[in-house]
Amino acid sequence: MLVSPKSLVKIARSGNALERLRAVRDGQAAIRVAAVGGALSTGVLHALRHPRTTADLAQEIGARDVELLEAFLRALTAAGLVRSTDGVHRLTSRSRAVLGDDVVRAAYEGFSDFHTGLYRDLPGQLAGGRAREDVTRRGDVIARLSRAMEPLVHDALAREVRESGARRVLDVGCGDGSHLVHMLAAAPEAHGVGIEIDPAAAALAIHALAGAGVADRGRVLTADVREVAAEGAEALGGPVDLALVANVVYYLPAEERTELLRAVGALLAPGGRLVVVSTMAEDSAFSRHFDLLLRAQDGEMSLPRPDEVASQLTDAGLDVTGIQRLAPGDPLYAVTAQRARPEAPGT
Ligand SMILES: C[S@@+](CC[C@H](N)C(=O)[O-])C[C@H]1O[C@@H](n2cnc3c(N)ncnc32)[C@H](O)[C@@H]1O
Repeated sequence: MLVSPKSLVKIARSGNALERLRAVRDGQAAIRVAAVGGALSTGVLHALRHPRTTADLAQEIGARDVELLEAFLRALTAAGLVRSTDGVHRLTSRSRAVLGDDVVRAAYEGFSDFHTGLYRDLPGQLAGGRAREDVTRRGDVIARLSRAMEPLVHDALAREVRESGARRVLDVGCGDGSHLVHMLAAAPEAHGVGIEIDPAAAALAIHALAGAGVADRGRVLTADVREVAAEGAEALGGPVDLALVANVVYYLPAEERTELLRAVGALLAPGGRLVVVSTMAEDSAFSRHFDLLLRAQDGEMSLPRPDEVASQLTDAGLDVTGIQRLAPGDPLYAVTAQRARPEAPGT
């Protein structure tokens, strides 16, 4: 049946046509994100790495409502994620690509879950409801997503390692150890220490050092950096030439950041460098969103501004040597500083 021009005009004039189109387009994108997220969280995509009938699939993922599963499979088929022939379901090239890249998987997991759940739950939270716990509960997804920008962080680190000729490096809040491994790879003569408060992440870092064949030059302390720093550089086997604090400062209340940077600065040898890498607060949609997500968490988290980090480094007694955006259009920055060398007598 043809749509009459009269009814088209009526539809166009019955409200804000442009905003309606935008709302539908945004809604469809939101549905696509949620559908992929659902296909991952239910285990459907993973299970369909081997073609399966609905009954096999239901058994594999523990689904009891087979009719609902069939409707879900039809929705995934329409979204181009599943192909079904003769009652057998299999992946498409699109869903294979999703499964084949962990950053893509983490993006769908994160954006269909807490990144959007934040806004769904906002009315309750604004009314005094409980703070969120995504950063602790879904820290793995946040870390996997941040891997997308890792080559840019590694470029900046390799430059610092080369320029400083660092022999001893430190990675504060080293997470899974990827940056520590990279620093040691960039400086084949160097030794390194990672400090990580979370035992599960520390175990990953120890594993990463062994996997990269640098376990003889690197070790990981499962500890709070502030406690290690209170013991002094001896706890690390001596002062370090290069320290990295990547994606850690925003977990701390703003008023505790200078103290952390001072503690890390005290572990530096004279002339030693400190690199603070962080997503920063700026006027872009993702930065403002991430800052909101942090502020909605249990604890006093927020994104810092680059100039704030620079003045905290100065207050911590270090000389700021640079503020650099690491990725065009992305709010990821490196702020670098140096511990002054003592003046030579008579100068
Ligand atoms: C977002 S992850 C970043 C990991 C890694 N630096 C990176 O950039 O991929 C932050 C890490 O800092 C660790 N962390 C937070 N506060 C810490 C503290 N006071 N001492 C040591 N580690 C800490 C967390 O456990 C977490 O693994």
